[in-house]
Amino acid sequence: MMEKNAKIYVAGHRGMVGSAIVRELERQGYTNIITRTHKELDLCRQDQVEKFFAEEKPEYVFLAAAKVGGIVANSEALADFMYDNMILEMNVINSAWKNGCKKLEFLGSSCIYPRMAPQPMPESCLLTSELEKTNEAYALAKISGLKYCEFLNKQYGTDYISVMPTNLYGPNDNYHPEHSHVLPALIRRFHEAKESGAKSVTCWGDGSPLREFLYVDDLANLCVFLMNNYSGNETVNAGTGKELTIKELTKLVAKVVGYEGEILWDTSRPNGTPRKLLDVSKAKKLGWTYKTELEDGIRLSYKDFLENPMRAER
Ligand SMILES: NC(=O)c1ccc[n+]([C@@H]2O[C@H](COP(=O)([O-])OP(=O)(O)OC[C@H]3O[C@@H](n4cnc5c(N)ncnc54)[C@H](OP(=O)(O)O)[C@@H]3O)[C@@H](O)[C@H]2O)c1
Repeated sequence: MMEKNAKIYVAGHRGMVGSAIVRELERQGYTNIITRTHKELDLCRQDQVEKFFAEEKPEYVFLAAAKVGGIVANSEALADFMYDNMILEMNVINSAWKNGCKKLEFLGSSCIYPRMAPQPMPESCLLTSELEKTNEAYALAKISGLKYCEFLNKQYGTDYISVMPTNLYGPNDNYHPEHSHVLPALIRRFHEAKESGAKSVTCWGDGSPLREFLYVDDLANLCVFLMNNYSGNETVNAGTGKELTIKELTKLVAKVVGYEGEILWDTSRPNGTPRKLLDVSKAKKLGWTYKTELEDGIRLSYKDFLENPMRAER
């Protein structure tokens, strides 16, 4: 259990996940949270990371920094995604261990499970068959981070854990027109369509794929919960266990944003995987479930989008 005054380093605190973890820690009364911006500390630079850990010696680390991107960015820059993520993870995890960090939590991602994983996907399906080609580099780097934690536990008796979130959304999301994930992309598109009075919005595919979404503040709550209540080499899935079609999602986003035009489907565009759902029974057994229903979460995200217009320019 983390003491309320324990020294906690949140890596990636300006990102969507890292900022949510800092909010959650503050909400729970943790008083000694340390952070560094990317500019102050480049986690891909081993010398900088070693110096930082030797000086600060954090007792707990949440590793939420990563080079992330959508399908296009991932598949166009395979080498960069592999190098940056691999080196960042190895630097942080290794320096944390060398400097006596009591517990570290590593952020994985459900996109690193095999392409043809059983649905819903249990934690045990990791590395059981081939990866999705479009994000193979990212997945290999993430799997290495996860495995490095496991190997440190086995070889040196550390207590380093990982969490595997489904699609996330919420404050500080990325609304870039080409590089964002489906939910923030829809928020932006429907908002712009409403503003410009567009009669229709065209979405890719036929809207049939099933997806799951978790509000990032719920994930942050789970991350702190696991830091305090879980030890083990196997990761823990973070999701709602609920799914909806992309068509249903578009209707929900249009409703929240207040867009009343038509939604059209360009079926010449790919649908993507038909179904992606996490098996969340492990987190449930540990005593955790999500709180924020999708419509409420989209409302909170849209509010944040409107209040921070600069975010749309990322
Ligand atoms: N978003 C999702 O739907 C989702 C789903 C599942 C899992 N996850 C996982 O959650 C983690 C965080 O994702 P996120 O969505 O919060 O991403 P994000 O918003 O892009 O945040 C990542 C943060 O890491 C920082 N960073 C990247 N490279 C760095 C470096 N070399 N040195 C220092 N800081 C660096 C970034 O800073 P700069 O922006 O300044 O570079 C940014 O603040 C990732 O591991 C991701 O795989 C996310």
